Amino acid sequence: MTDVDHSVSVGEASPDMMKVLAISGSLRAGSNTTAVLLGAARLAAPAVEVDLYGGLSALPHFDPDLDAARAPAAVEALRRDVAAADAVLFCTPEYAHGVPGSLKNALDWLVGSGELYAKPVALLNAAPRATHAQASLAETLRTMGAQLLTDPCVIAASAGLLPDGSNVEELAALRDALRGVLEALRGAAVRGGS
Ligand SMILES: Cc1cc2nc3c(=O)[nH]c(=O)nc-3n(C[C@H](O)[C@H](O)[C@H](O)COP(=O)(O)O)c2cc1C
Repeated sequence: MTDVDHSVSVGEASPDMMKVLAISGSLRAGSNTTAVLLGAARLAAPAVEVDLYGGLSALPHFDPDLDAARAPAAVEALRRDVAAADAVLFCTPEYAHGVPGSLKNALDWLVGSGELYAKPVALLNAAPRATHAQASLAETLRTMGAQLLTDPCVIAASAGLLPDGSNVEELAALRDALRGVLEALRGAAVRGGS
């Protein structure tokens, strides 16, 4: 998992521990979206390892001509990270009623290679009024054959959450929503693996 920021995973990883790859659609330092995923990582430990994908801004623009026998290194790393995960958890802001370009770009790199096919995937929404991006992201993931668990997303009321997600236990509604999503992902990954 060369492209994952391991500094945000919480707990001791063991080889048979369930792995969730968390992908934030925000590149912003201090992002509320990313904070929700960091909160999920804290709640998941120690039973589940949640790693935040850190390579979004390093991906080249999707170009089928670049997707040759050997794709760009950042793309190969993304594909390895998604393939190695038992499930993927997305949380994204909405820009101009759409999915941020950087996130859609990452998904475009995964269409042909297929790592998201049949992968248990959940969507979180940290900004409940942002419904267009969620619907669009869900449609893209369904088209890619992902096993979308929440339809289309779980609204995680994240007001008051610190940027590193460290106070997630104190925010009952958010904590419970995140625990529910993590449990659903666990169930789907277990069913898929049996
Ligand atoms: C260029 C731009 C466009 C935006 N467009 C929308 C929008 O269409 N709908 C919406 O609900 N919020 C929109 N927002 C607000 C962001 O989605 C919101 O600030 C989000 O919570 C930021 O997430 P972050 O804290 O993770 O960066 C927009 C913000 C920016 C900067």
